[in-house]
Amino acid sequence: MSKLIKYFRWYDYLLITLTIILTFLRVGFDLTLPDLMADIVSVVIENGSRSEIFSIGLEMLLYTVLAVISVFFISFLSSKVAARFANILRRKMYEKVQSFSAEEMNDFSVASLITRTTNDIQQVQNLVVSSLRMALRAPILAVGAIIKIWGRSSSLTLVTGISIFLIVVVITFIFIKVGPKFKIVQENIDDLNLVTRENLTGLREVRAHNAEEYQKEKFERVNEKLTNTNIYVNRILMMMHPFMNLILSGTSLAIVWVGAYLISQNSINLPTMMAFSQYAVQTVMGFMMLTITLMMFPRSFVSARRVSEVLQTKAKINSPLEPVTKTGETGTIEFKDVSFRHKDAEEYILKNINLKINKGETIGFIGSTGSGKSTLINLILRFYDVSEGTLFINGQNIKDYPLEQLHDLVGYIPQRAILFSGTIASNLRLGKKDASEEEMLQALKTADMDKFIKRQEDGLQYKVSRAGQNFSGGQKQRLSIARGIIKQREFFVFDDTFSALDNKTDSRVRKNLIKHIKGATTLIVSQRVGTIMNSDKIVVLDKGEIVGFGTHRELLKENKIYQEIASSQLSKENL
Ligand SMILES: Nc1ncnc2c1ncn2[C@@H]1O[C@H](COP(=O)(O)OP(=O)(O)OP(=O)(O)O)[C@@H](O)[C@H]1O
Ligand SMILES: [Mg+2]
Repeated sequence: MSKLIKYFRWYDYLLITLTIILTFLRVGFDLTLPDLMADIVSVVIENGSRSEIFSIGLEMLLYTVLAVISVFFISFLSSKVAARFANILRRKMYEKVQSFSAEEMNDFSVASLITRTTNDIQQVQNLVVSSLRMALRAPILAVGAIIKIWGRSSSLTLVTGISIFLIVVVITFIFIKVGPKFKIVQENIDDLNLVTRENLTGLREVRAHNAEEYQKEKFERVNEKLTNTNIYVNRILMMMHPFMNLILSGTSLAIVWVGAYLISQNSINLPTMMAFSQYAVQTVMGFMMLTITLMMFPRSFVSARRVSEVLQTKAKINSPLEPVTKTGETGTIEFKDVSFRHKDAEEYILKNINLKINKGETIGFIGSTGSGKSTLINLILRFYDVSEGTLFINGQNIKDYPLEQLHDLVGYIPQRAILFSGTIASNLRLGKKDASEEEMLQALKTADMDKFIKRQEDGLQYKVSRAGQNFSGGQKQRLSIARGIIKQREFFVFDDTFSALDNKTDSRVRKNLIKHIKGATTLIVSQRVGTIMNSDKIVVLDKGEIVGFGTHRELLKENKIYQEIASSQLSKENL
């Protein structure tokens, strides 16, 4: 929690100070009442006048009203501070997660990040509210009430002390039992989120495989686990309530009992005993609240730690502190003894890659599925960092580029086309913020999507629903291509982007591309020989190694793996 406190702003501290002042006032009002009541009793015993009783009663009413007003403002201020704090945390969390690379995303998992941004921050918000409402009031009340009873009667003070001791013991016992479970509850929620998410995104697959039962069992398992932990925690917490009541009532009773004896001995009088009984209850209540809030803290601390874990995580891949100025070279990429393996994995996905790509070249990458093509492309965008060796862009170590500048250099069209809800125009603008209508139409034309747009009444404002569900696979890919090429860049990277297009559309789009991105260095990954055979050079990847490099003709002649791929795909005359 201490690590989160820095996210409070000065304005919040102002509101918190105000809350503290109001809390003092409120406790002050509360603690005046028993004495006034004792006064009324004295007046009655001494046969005082009605108007005397009335004026004291009025005074009591005044203090009660003032206490209620303070409570109102305390509630209002604490809610406001807590809600603002949660807002800041959510924003910081969002910004942080944006900076995460694949590695950090894997470490936390999407499901857990969602729980942390929603449920855990909610717990922290609750913590702030209960701190300002209860935890603040508890010690003030306890101390205030003790001052009030101090020196009035040692026997009655002893009774109160015993009650306080009982309260502290009982609550401590309860929380020792449930404390460790709080962390488990949050982890169970993570699991539930994971299964729910997977199930909802894969609903069609589940149906198609008649796997509803299987998925349901999986869901029931995590649901059951969460329920059981919750029941356990709540059962024990619920026991707290009757115990508290028992002790509070017991305290009153014991004070009346002992008090009656003391009165008969003439060591105190009735009004004192009555006032004492009320102050004693306030004291015990103060300690009760104090213990409860102290014990509730660990629960919220679990959540606070989960939030701060995310906020403290430094994204491994980030911009260098001292970016190097340009080398003057443009359009070149060089892999020098590059190897790559995933964190904690033994096996290398890429081994000893040495490759130099010159300005303006078009390089094709081919290889069986899982041979490491996408991984190699990911290195160029620095989604991952090389494990060994160096990757140079424009003659400069890729790690020396500010990330933003690097991503600006490269137009990237991923293997899996992902669209965002909005319109076609809003999706294209992700590629270029200030793209004009003309530029958008041009990009769509290159990607062979212009005819589709022209058929639509809304044109560029045609709606894209969540994840682009209202488009076919090939349409999504072509929109993704249009988005990737709308801005002129030094490099373009197509990761198997043409796989969902039929051969004719594929070749039409590529022909358009040659005109559109003229002069840029272009990397095209594909499983289809036809897509890359006209490239200047072709890289053949196999199990993470470069096993061939040359033109289509050269590779056909001398590369066995390329020959195998080609002969399975091309007709005789093309070979
Ligand atoms: N996050 C990951 N953690 C561990 N291994 C991974 C991870 N992502 C991919 N791999 C492994 O890396 C290898 C290469 O994957 P990559 O996606 O680069 O293949 P690819 O050549 O692009 O295949 P495809 O043609 O099917 O797209 C695969 O064997 C895969 O199992
Ligand atoms: Mg791939």
